[in-house]
Amino acid sequence: MGRRPFIAGNWKLNLGPAEARAVASQLRDALGDPSPVTVAVFPTALSVSAVLQALDGAEVGVGVQEIASQPSGALTGANSAVMARSMGCTYCLVGHSERRQLWGETDEACADKVLAALSAGLLPILCVGETLDQRRAGQLEAVLMRQLEVGLSKLQPDQALSVTLAYEPVWAIGTGETATPEQAQEVHALLRGRLVERFGPGAEEVRIQYGGSVKPANASELLACPDIDGALVGGASLKADSFAAIVQAAQG
Ligand code: 13P
Repeated sequence: MGRRPFIAGNWKLNLGPAEARAVASQLRDALGDPSPVTVAVFPTALSVSAVLQALDGAEVGVGVQEIASQPSGALTGANSAVMARSMGCTYCLVGHSERRQLWGETDEACADKVLAALSAGLLPILCVGETLDQRRAGQLEAVLMRQLEVGLSKLQPDQALSVTLAYEPVWAIGTGETATPEQAQEVHALLRGRLVERFGPGAEEVRIQYGGSVKPANASELLACPDIDGALVGGASLKADSFAAIVQAAQG
């Protein structure tokens, strides 16, 4: 299938405006010419403006890590998809496991946020993933299918095609422990099968990223798997050279 690889850097709560601007500029230099890979970074909301400026005219998209399901209102501390779009953001993350664990974000809330993103013209990356306990208890498939089905439940088939999925096993995030290519491929094929069942053959075009301790040393073998269409990178995206090396790996 002709899925264009998509490498995204989730900077989490790191890199304030000055540092983020510097890393974005270095990344711009390191990536150079237009490549066949979609690239995006997700700074903290406080650094989005600086990063947008540093990447102005570059082929690197910028996104926010979190949006509310409403465009505005009495929601202290929240980000608006409409406002993010109007600043120049292209993407947003939805349902990252840290949001699920630390802020109690539910699958139902994710469904509202995915719809809010698309309605505002932002392209969401819906994150799904199981904990180690869930995997050990044989609940992997049930957990992921619920996250997928409910998370996309408010979308029409044509809208679903604008979503990117990120499979991030919680036990692999920030631990240095990566799913093996076989483990990841198995889950990605499962997710793709369900997407096609639910949204029709067009869903073959939906990109599914792998996330969880991706680094230059393991990116190539993960990205070589037929159903792994990119990576959502945390720690290794904080330095321009390691992130650029992962983008390079996606170029094959
Ligand atoms: P690490 O790459 O640091 O494991 O983080 C993965 C992640 O959570 C990306 O969203």
